[in-house]
Amino acid sequence: MNDKLAEWNVYEADFPTSGTLYDQLKFLLNYAVLAPSGPNTQPWKFAIKSDEISLVADLHRSLPSLDPSHRTLYLSHGCVLTNLLLAAEHFGFDHDVKCLPDGVSGERTASVRFSRKEAPQRFPDLFSEITRRHTNRKSFEQRPIETEKLQKLEDYAKGRGFRLDILTSDEGKAEMADILARAQKMQLGNKDLRKELAAWIRPNNSEQKDGLPGYSFGYSDFESYLGSFIFGTLDMSSSRARVETANMLASPVVAVLSTETDDKMTWLKAGVAFETLFLMATQMDVRFDLFSQPIALPELREEMAKILNVKYPQLLIRMGYAEPARHTPRRPVEEVLMD
Ligand SMILES: Cc1cc2nc3c(=O)[nH]c(=O)nc-3n(C[C@H](O)[C@H](O)[C@H](O)COP(=O)(O)O)c2cc1C
Repeated sequence: MNDKLAEWNVYEADFPTSGTLYDQLKFLLNYAVLAPSGPNTQPWKFAIKSDEISLVADLHRSLPSLDPSHRTLYLSHGCVLTNLLLAAEHFGFDHDVKCLPDGVSGERTASVRFSRKEAPQRFPDLFSEITRRHTNRKSFEQRPIETEKLQKLEDYAKGRGFRLDILTSDEGKAEMADILARAQKMQLGNKDLRKELAAWIRPNNSEQKDGLPGYSFGYSDFESYLGSFIFGTLDMSSSRARVETANMLASPVVAVLSTETDDKMTWLKAGVAFETLFLMATQMDVRFDLFSQPIALPELREEMAKILNVKYPQLLIRMGYAEPARHTPRRPVEEVLMD
């Protein structure tokens, strides 16, 4: 692993057992920052005060054209919370979480108070999956995912008040692939949206600790040099869109996570559930590839909702088996910790 991916090298043995509470809470953040965010914008900041960690939205890292409501930002903060709480439980902390502690317009999306009292570990097996989890954009093997595994994911979502629709039929997958293709055509045809996305695409050897290196999309080093440029041009973007649609049709499973309501609190809670699902899948060696494009476009989101008979689709997911993909970089804790 090279230095650019050093943040994924976090070892349990480095937990500062005899350090201060501040040192210990800071250590937990090493796991929190490994959460996913679309397109790896990492739109978060943290503050540690006494026994409390605050999670704060970094709106400089939001996507004004692609995600004007900040829906995916809140989903990603839910993912951060899951990692943080799993790590806290693993290292023997109990926690008391407040979502949106300053109301819906506050900058803080969550605050968590920690106490040195062993909390029941809700998912003891998932902690070790935090450093294994990754988005995988490869073509997946055709072998089906075992029914019991899919059932486990579906049941977990249901237990949290959400819905995970699992589509395995050619017809169901084709309907979602068609919606994805139309979403990509609409988004890529829009210069502002294309430019906003292209700004987060990086050359493979970039030293930047955020955004998507070209290798995430299978670009060679040479292609990745032109990365931002080729992503920002319609032709190359369209060929990428064709690959994604074909991959979706050929995957054993396409799934959609949906909610009953659609507000900041819902997005945060759905993010918490989503990251748990992502880690459960990682434990079962099932890979996820994610798509928020159709959900960002109201007419296509509505079409998805009608097909599935759900209220609010939040994430379209391609699932299957594949070799692990390389991680993407993360900003170190020092960079995201406010004084
Ligand atoms: C809420 C959310 C939405 C996402 N939407 C997309 C998407 O539309 N297309 C895509 O290729 N990846 C999407 N991703 C995946 C991110 O690009 C990925 O998580 C990020 O680059 C970090 O990489 P990692 O998941 O491998 O750690 C999304 C992730 C999240 C959490």
